[in-house]
This record gives sequence, C-alpha cells and structure tokens, in this order.
Amino acid sequence: MNVAEVLGLPGLEEDLARLEVTIRRVVTTEDPFLSEVATHLIAAGGKRLRPSLTVASAAAGGADTTEEVLLGAVAVELVHQASLYHDDVMDEATTRRGVQSVNDRWGNLVAIVAGDFLLARAAGIAASLGTEVAGLLASTLARLCEGQVSEVHTAFDVSRSEQAYFATILDKTASLMATACRIGGLTARLDRRQVDALTTFGECFGMVFQIRDDILDVIATEEELGKGVGQDMERGVYTLPVLRSLGDSGVGPELRSLLGRPLDRSQRDKARDMVASSGGIASAVGAGRRYADMAAVAAGTLGSGPTGAALGRLGHALVDDIPTG
Ligand code: IPE
Ligand code: IPE
Ligand code: MG
Ligand code: MG
Repeated sequence: MNVAEVLGLPGLEEDLARLEVTIRRVVTTEDPFLSEVATHLIAAGGKRLRPSLTVASAAAGGADTTEEVLLGAVAVELVHQASLYHDDVMDEATTRRGVQSVNDRWGNLVAIVAGDFLLARAAGIAASLGTEVAGLLASTLARLCEGQVSEVHTAFDVSRSEQAYFATILDKTASLMATACRIGGLTARLDRRQVDALTTFGECFGMVFQIRDDILDVIATEEELGKGVGQDMERGVYTLPVLRSLGDSGVGPELRSLLGRPLDRSQRDKARDMVASSGGIASAVGAGRRYADMAAVAAGTLGSGPTGAALGRLGHALVDDIPTG
C-alpha cells in the first residue's frame, strides 16, 4: 500500500525529499565508519510513514510544512530507525528494508551504539524544538523501551493474555505513531483540541499498523516485506493472530503443544501454516478494523479538509491491504 497515495497530499513528495537531505546531514559525522553505519538503513529505503504522518497532521490543521514541522518529522523518523537498529539486535534479524541488517553486517555492539547515536541526534533536534516536544519524545522513547521489555518478559508464554498483547503494542508501536502526529500538531502550532485529536488518531492507527505487521509476519513472504518472516513465533512472541488461533477449537490444541519453546525451521513453518489456515487471521483482521474505526472517528473531528478525510481513510486502507486470500 502506498501511504502517500492514500494521503493524496500535494507537496508530500517534496517535503520527504527535504527530509532525506536533513536526515543524512544530521547523521553524517567526521568518522566515515560511523557515518556509513548510521546511514545504512536510511539509504536502504523504508516507507517514511511516521514523518509522513507528522507532515499530514500539520496539513490537516491547515498548516504548511515549515522548517519546524520538518525537523519534528526528522526527529520522529530517527527515533524509529534507532528502534529498528535495536529491535534487530533483540530479534537476531538478518534482513531489514531489503538489505542486510546492521547487527548482521557489523555485529550487535556496533548496532547498539549506532542506534544510540541516532537517538542522540533525535534528542538534539527535539531540544531545538522546545521543551514540550523534547519531553514528549523522551517519554515516548521510554514507552517504546517498556513495550519491548514487556514483550521479552512474556516470551514463550502460550497463556499470554490479549490484554498483555494490546498493552505491549500500544507502548512499542502506537505511542510513536501518536507522537509523530502530535509533534506535527505542536510544531504547526495547531490548537489543543486538534493536537489531542491527532494524538488519538495516531495511537489508534498505530494499533492497526502493528496488528497488520503481526499478521504479515505469519502470512507474507520475506520478498514482500524486505525483512524476515515467521520471526515472532520463532522467538516466542505470540501475537494476536497466534493468540486467536490458540483459542480456535480446530488448530488450538495442536498449536499449543508445538509452541512454548524455541522452534526449528520446519516446526516454525508448520506453526505458521496452522495459524494461517485457522480463523486466527480473519479474527485479528477484525480487531484491526475496530481500531481503524476508532482512528477514523478521531480524524473525523479534525474538520472538513481533505487531509483530515484522508487520514480518516488510512487505517481502513491498511486493513484492506492485508492479503487474506
Ligand atoms: C517497522 O515499521 C516496525 C514496526 C513498528 C512494525 P515500518 O514498517 O514503518 O518500517 P519502515 O520504516 O518502513 O522500514
Ligand atoms: C518492533 O516490532 C517494533 C519496534 C518498536 C521496532 P516488530 O519486531 O514486529 O518489528 P519488525 O517486524 O521487526 O519490523
Ligand atoms: Mg522485530
Ligand atoms: Mg513484526
């Protein structure tokens, strides 16, 4: 799915081109090695979804992409990229954005320090945008860490509750999407009511986004995603489609006996097939759709402009894009 197309925002392409120039400038240092590692994922691509949300949030309130809005978008994308550097260490991932992951290419130590470097650059930019933005980004980063740690904490637990799942993805993913939108509103100096509506929208949209990512980990291919698939069950992270399949009277009992421990390749593929063929996928899609409904309601309070309307369609566009066959 092409987010820029759904947003239909004139000027977004140009804004993202400006974003690329700034991002590359702020992560380039005098040390050529650090510069290479820090620009590795930037050069590889990525959807630039979060900075697009920042720009679209400002536009939904009728504001232009000022230098402040753009810097806000840069800070958010840097925090996201740093989280990918660190997440790939945690997941022992080998592929990201269609290229070799940083940890796989240069080792965990370099990946962790380079991720820290990106966070430092994000913090510097956020500080230049004032204490509210800086404080918001810092508290979001803390929530991201809390989410990642709570996921580790429940690993291999076949009794993981849906409540625990939703709380984790709210922290690890939805909080940064909410902040991407909120920073768009704050840097564009929109009124508080709009800033709060954008934040609610971003949070609900972020829930849709992670539920979809968790479904795709089960049913998509590495070529489609540009990153490893089947990783979640392999490392004991039982996401919504898996939890719903465990409750399925058909595959549930056999799946339960297979999970709860590390899986080899063939067990992993078997588990993926079981979840994919159960009602767990459709059920998780349904949960995603409910968050998309909530995102649309929040966007509906933004006023009658085209960008607010486009944001309102974004969650459903993501859900409808899941290839359920
Ligand atoms: C990946 O995010 C991490 C998750 C929260 C699932 P994206 O899918 O937005 O990653 P890029 O930026 O496009 O690579
Ligand atoms: C991690 O979720 C989200 C982050 C905070 C980076 P995932 O582990 O599902 O992300 P992917 O699938 O590796 O992109
Ligand atoms: Mg991961
Ligand atoms: Mg994932």
